[in-house]
Amino acid sequence: MSKKILVTGGAGFIGSHTVVELAAAGYEILLIDNFSNSEHWILDRIAKVCGNRIPFKHLDLRDANAISACVSSYRPDSVIHFAALKSVGESVQQPLAYYENNLTGTLNLLQAMSNAGCNQLVFSSSATVYGVPERCPITEDAPLDAVNPYGRTKLMMENVIRDVVTAQPDFQAAILRYFNPAGAHPSGEIGELPLGVPNNLVPFVAQVAAGLRPQVRIFGNDYPTPDGTGVRDYIHVCDVAKAHVAALAALDDSGVRELTVNLGTGRGYSVLEIVHAFQTAAGLPIPYAFVERRPGDVAECYADPTLSHRALSWHAEHGLERICEDAWRWQRGLR
Ligand code: UFG
Repeated sequence: MSKKILVTGGAGFIGSHTVVELAAAGYEILLIDNFSNSEHWILDRIAKVCGNRIPFKHLDLRDANAISACVSSYRPDSVIHFAALKSVGESVQQPLAYYENNLTGTLNLLQAMSNAGCNQLVFSSSATVYGVPERCPITEDAPLDAVNPYGRTKLMMENVIRDVVTAQPDFQAAILRYFNPAGAHPSGEIGELPLGVPNNLVPFVAQVAAGLRPQVRIFGNDYPTPDGTGVRDYIHVCDVAKAHVAALAALDDSGVRELTVNLGTGRGYSVLEIVHAFQTAAGLPIPYAFVERRPGDVAECYADPTLSHRALSWHAEHGLERICEDAWRWQRGLR
């Protein structure tokens, strides 16, 4: 019998790609989402890519009774927890919404799992927990110091999960710290759906290429980096998705109680390199202008992926070219 996986936030950007990989790997899935940052038609697209419909429940994790009833009746073997608010800027404007949504949702989920005897969790964390990194590449034992409410919710959730691992001898958790997930499924059916003006670089560049925005505003060209623009570790969303499938297997095979790993490629690219790579992928000019640094940004942030390779028997397969090609195919499909 295949393992049953409950996926929270399964209609979101990384959630939807992970559902597709889980289905391909033969897992039984129940997807839950509150559609705060997705659209119902993504479910049709997931069905198209998977070749069958994935069972789905419209559910908000802040509703403790609803999530408890859901986990008790479905009785998943594992939960993959993506559902969270994720905009840094918005979290500074609305900290209470972030603490309520991300923390309450996670506490309700963990309580529901505990009630139902579900003891395996894969958690969506972020490189944001490293705050301003002292050095790159960043290893998992680097100091943790989130510098905005969004980041603090991720760090708090990590700590809550580690406390549950300590308290419950049967509980296993994999905490995956994403660097910069980007790109889209190669089918062009699923991808990122930014609400309003995209905060993140790749979807913004894609909208400029599509003629929806006049130019890319490059936040700062005076950083101590080779070309003066910010350097990040962009990782293809399908590689991120596959890492979740690998994490489930790693927890089962190793029996390890807790696993915290970076999900990155180990290679940093500058904003200018991204603009140029996208220009090549799209075959279109992408106008840009240098503007002031964005408050809170760091010069460079890229992963040391060594531990993830060892612990998950996984590595990122796709490079920047594929990220841009797939993001562009998705963007064209949206027009
Ligand atoms: N950038 C621009 N112009 C834009 C958007 C971004 O120049 O319009 C630059 C940024 O200054 C940065 C780089 O592009 O140098 C990447 O910016 P993103 O906003 O795409 O990504 P960040 O690295 O800032 O943020 C990501 C995640 C956050 C997470 C953070 C730290 O989106 O959720 O990494 O891990 F908190």
